[in-house]
Amino acid sequence: SSITYNEKTLDHFTNPRNVGVVKNYNGRGKIGEVGCGDVCEITILVENERINDIKFRVYGCAGAVATSSAVTELAKGKLCEEALKLTDDDVVDFLGGLPEQKKHCSLLGIRALKQAIYDYWLYKQLLESGQVTNRDEHEKVREDLFQQFANEF
Ligand code: FES
Repeated sequence: SSITYNEKTLDHFTNPRNVGVVKNYNGRGKIGEVGCGDVCEITILVENERINDIKFRVYGCAGAVATSSAVTELAKGKLCEEALKLTDDDVVDFLGGLPEQKKHCSLLGIRALKQAIYDYWLYKQLLESGQVTNRDEHEKVREDLFQQFANEF
């Protein structure tokens, strides 16, 4: 059966907001959905605990593009603590509903956002303790560290 998206979702699919990678980002999340193989990456620039810039890249379905675009709109300008409380239901509500078989797509962006926030906090901590001095060094250690906490996201 074919899938019918509402107008707002189609708009976010054909004209996604905040696409790309944030220049000088200090948090990054990358989540793959095992079931369908879709991948979402979110980068954020946090200043004074506020998400002042956010961008996404998705390799996946129309639903994943639209919902990830919605996640960036919902999270932009929020404090990290507030953004962490966003749920997939908030994304579905923001878009005015999603087809039943596409509801799982909204989890991809939410999980990538959460990982990006935790990555920012980790990066900040490693910078402060002198374990890394820049983002490139952090990128090398983050994969290992996130493996250990994979189930938390
Ligand atoms: Fe995989 Fe939409 S079908 S995220």
